[in-house]
Amino acid sequence: MFINSFVATASLIAGLFANGGVGISIPTEFKNEKRATVDSWIATENPIALAGVLANIGSTGLKAAGASSGIVIASPSTSNPDYFYTWTRDSALTFKALVDQFIATGSSTLQTEIDNYISAQAYLQTVSNPSGGLSSGGLGEPKFNTDMTAFTGAWGRPQRDGPALRATAMIAYSRWLIANGYTSTATNVVWPVISNDLSYVTQYWNQTGFDLWEEVDGSSFFTIAVQHRALVEGNTLAISLGKSCSNCVSQAPQLLCFLQSFWSGSYIISNINVNNGRTGKDANSILGSIHTFDPAAGCDDSTFQPCSPRMLANHKVVTDSFRSIYTINSGIAEGTAVAVGRYPEDSYYNGNPWYLNTLAAAEQLYDALYQYNTLGSITITSTSLAFWKDIYSSAATGTYASSSSTFTALTSALKTYADGYVAVVEKYTPSSGALSEQFSKSDGTPLSATDLTWSYAAFLTMVAARNNVMPASWGEPSAMSVPSVCSSASAIGPYSTATNTAWPTFSGGSSAPSTASGSTTSTTATSCATAAAVAVTFDELVTTTYGENVFIVGSISQLGNWDTGSAVALSASSYTASNPLWYVTISLPAGTTFQYKYIKKETSGSVVWESDPNRSYTVPSGCATTATESDSWR
Ligand SMILES: *[C@@H]1O[C@H](CO)[C@@H](O)[C@H](O)[C@H]1NC(C)=O
Ligand SMILES: *[C@@H]1O[C@H](CO)[C@@H](O)[C@H](O)[C@H]1NC(C)=O
Repeated sequence: MFINSFVATASLIAGLFANGGVGISIPTEFKNEKRATVDSWIATENPIALAGVLANIGSTGLKAAGASSGIVIASPSTSNPDYFYTWTRDSALTFKALVDQFIATGSSTLQTEIDNYISAQAYLQTVSNPSGGLSSGGLGEPKFNTDMTAFTGAWGRPQRDGPALRATAMIAYSRWLIANGYTSTATNVVWPVISNDLSYVTQYWNQTGFDLWEEVDGSSFFTIAVQHRALVEGNTLAISLGKSCSNCVSQAPQLLCFLQSFWSGSYIISNINVNNGRTGKDANSILGSIHTFDPAAGCDDSTFQPCSPRMLANHKVVTDSFRSIYTINSGIAEGTAVAVGRYPEDSYYNGNPWYLNTLAAAEQLYDALYQYNTLGSITITSTSLAFWKDIYSSAATGTYASSSSTFTALTSALKTYADGYVAVVEKYTPSSGALSEQFSKSDGTPLSATDLTWSYAAFLTMVAARNNVMPASWGEPSAMSVPSVCSSASAIGPYSTATNTAWPTFSGGSSAPSTASGSTTSTTATSCATAAAVAVTFDELVTTTYGENVFIVGSISQLGNWDTGSAVALSASSYTASNPLWYVTISLPAGTTFQYKYIKKETSGSVVWESDPNRSYTVPSGCATTATESDSWR
């Protein structure tokens, strides 16, 4: 990823994509046996991956000696290659994974790391660097020294995905702060940092920059996709904090409009506005999709959701591009998992598969499975047909309801295919569980930087997706319609130095086990710990007039014991005329059964109850740490 020669030598190999492989049918018994192996490997690897991440975070991480508090090193490797720096992108992706882990487990150790990270980023925003200062482009600087001073050497700069990804990580944490009674912390400490990052995106999204692999100066699918997401959820957060981001509102539709330009008709061309002789087939696109996945979204092509026909077609094209060029993939037919690299023309370390890209290929499919199960059907279109035929030879275009045997067969084939990518990573991971950056295309031995933080973070997010432990929605359903005309645009500011890093003392709201930092033996996370508490989101569709507010009240103390004066307020931050959504997320003890109703409170103070009967709900008890209940006013 961190090649320090800006343009990698493109070695175009003739006949690269010719692959006339015929599907091999694997006996069911073997598939089941393989799946069990993947399950047990995940259980072993998960604590190693979490400890691997924590070891690379200053100031206490075992492998991050000298790094400032909250600073993530990319890898402990200090030569061949030297990755002992902190990258804005890698750090943000890592902390998004940790925020989601924190929300799932309630770990106070993780929360301290998150607070330290945000404090460090508030400071880094003020460090003048070769890309500029706070309000003059400096937020696009890709990396800093681990003592938070500027890195002044030559580099592929700017990189415009960093501020967006950092905003997304902090927004996810802010949602938790608000849901748990720390709104003033979200407002006073976190929002000022987020706001600067959103301003960077609204100002610079329509200018070229270096891609996530730091090689191509152009427009990158990954960058535009994550920027769009950040503006959408940034605006929603702003509203719930009583702020606004009018530039988010004006720019977001234009980013979505521009995003459509990356679609070639059959796959995503990951870099445009550049002429570098590549095909554009690149894991950039798969990473873009998993990091803009929204569990509340449909299989929308416009936002390239994991289950969308476009993304399935693209998954096939990208993964197939690595079948014939890596020895370790040789003879593996389409529809069976392979090792996945960055892009087929890659020559960095001679071009090899990467752990994080192979894991991303699995994660996209787990996300898609979740979406099909939630939506209750699979639609195969002419765009996605070739993907489906690879894994289920009799697939045909049409819509298959979850009650049909075809749906069962398709989802089972998809799960097997996804698990196959995890099995590839398992096969080429040493017994220590250490994940470096790459593994050899010829024999699978680990290569390049050791203990790559992003490799471990990619493992954690894959596991969460596989376990259906889903992140919160970023608001895709309200932001997926594409303007009819795209225009070049930009909106400037506001920027201001974020100085408040006064974190409160958090009272632990969860009895979930905490995870110790920096040691493989003292972590207690498993692939599927039984959740003590579940963050239940109550969605209520109810049309209201201005001044009316919606609350939930019920038979347990968390819902006010039927006392309307103690009812819990829902938020209207996603409310639209066509989708009048009020919602709230409440942490409830697993397994609790209770009765409840929604009520409307009028400006006069009078209360309007829903009609009988009382609603009833049982909090799931299992490994899921989030759940959603969708209701409509009655
Ligand atoms: C700017 O946006 C316009 C409209 O979508 C697009 O045609 C153009 O390629 C974009 N340029 C860059 C550098 O983002
Ligand atoms: C709903 O619950 C309340 C409180 O327990 C109870 O008084 C009321 O009778 C219930 N309504 C119905 C229709 O069962």
